Amino acid sequence: MSLPELTPQEVESKDSAFILGTYARTSFHPRRGKGAQLVDADGKVYWDLLAGIAVNALGYSHPRLVRAMKEEASGLTHVSNLYYQRAQVLLAEKLIAASGMAKVFFCNSGTEAIEASLKFARLATPGRHGVVAFTGSFHGRTFGALSMTGNEGYRTPFEPLVPGACFIAPGDVAALEAAVDETTSAIVMEPIQGEGGIVPFSDAFLQAARAAADRVGAALVLDEIQSGLGRTGSLFVFQQKGIVPDMVTLAKPLGGGLPLGAVLVTERIASFLKPGHHGTTFGGNPVACRLGYELFSELQEKDYPAKVAALGAWFGRRLGKLKKSAPGIVDVRGTGLIWGIELDREAGPVARALLQKGFVVGTARKNVLRLLPPYVVPKKALAAFVDALEVTLKEEVK
Ligand SMILES: Cc1ncc(COP(=O)(O)O)c(C=O)c1O
Repeated sequence: MSLPELTPQEVESKDSAFILGTYARTSFHPRRGKGAQLVDADGKVYWDLLAGIAVNALGYSHPRLVRAMKEEASGLTHVSNLYYQRAQVLLAEKLIAASGMAKVFFCNSGTEAIEASLKFARLATPGRHGVVAFTGSFHGRTFGALSMTGNEGYRTPFEPLVPGACFIAPGDVAALEAAVDETTSAIVMEPIQGEGGIVPFSDAFLQAARAAADRVGAALVLDEIQSGLGRTGSLFVFQQKGIVPDMVTLAKPLGGGLPLGAVLVTERIASFLKPGHHGTTFGGNPVACRLGYELFSELQEKDYPAKVAALGAWFGRRLGKLKKSAPGIVDVRGTGLIWGIELDREAGPVARALLQKGFVVGTARKNVLRLLPPYVVPKKALAAFVDALEVTLKEEVK
């Protein structure tokens, strides 16, 4: 028993015939992967510096995840949240112990985690519906999350959206102070904007956001969906920032490659939640939670956050040098294994040229190359990428 064989051309023509055209897909056909490498339908091997957009933290075919997947799938693949689930509570216990938060709600994706956090913030702040969010932010595509996303292009076609959101510029403390008042239910922010072009908030600004939320009794929601779970050198980004948020949203790597999202909340937020306030059929699925449990255990046991921090420090220095020697690099931003390389030209053609050279990279905004490699990426892959980017920037005319 296996799927019918299809050539890349057949896949593309069925895709355009049957799948709604919501994605501008690249003509790339990955079929297998091992570690930080992908192999396409023709057998060509690539270094994957995108990890399925920050999902595959342990790369591909990780033995521990493969074993757990087989084991769990031959048991129960679904039971519903009407009943108790072992993998769910074991993953929850780990997340709570490592974060110092009080309780977790499981869902299926990042946007659902944001939706949940917005509802929880409303419960915790009766009568309020204001949300302070940031220009350049990205929180997801469902109505609530889209309403807090500071990107006109994504928002405008779907207006009117959920009311109450106001957008301020990242880093503008005066605007933050002015925007946060007694109508504010939540401040929602990514500690490092991902889709927005890898734009980090300073520690001081995050602390100002914490203080502003405290001043009016609003909830501070930290969206660590792209940046969390080890990518910046600690299991949770807030642990490096001198703040404790009221809620942390997680997704992407959390399910070890399967759909899984979560909201971690403090005791105070948890005290407002009663049965029936929120729920989902699939959220916290046993197979996804088992993979999440193994992923989280692996991150802790092998101390991946420390490895990511060290590798990221080295990579940042290499990128800094490249900025000086190669044409067309306007800025390099990032930490750990989340990096944005801002170019003086469109990033799409550069990303496609890099793909031809065997490197899978992402883009953000029009002119930023976005790198979110798996934590298992070897130094030699990052070094080879730097060389390939230098060549590409010299080859590609603006
Ligand atoms: C910071 C952030 N929040 C939310 C989301 C939405 O997550 P999902 O695509 O799983 O709904 C994303 C996805 O890119 C993200 O990067």
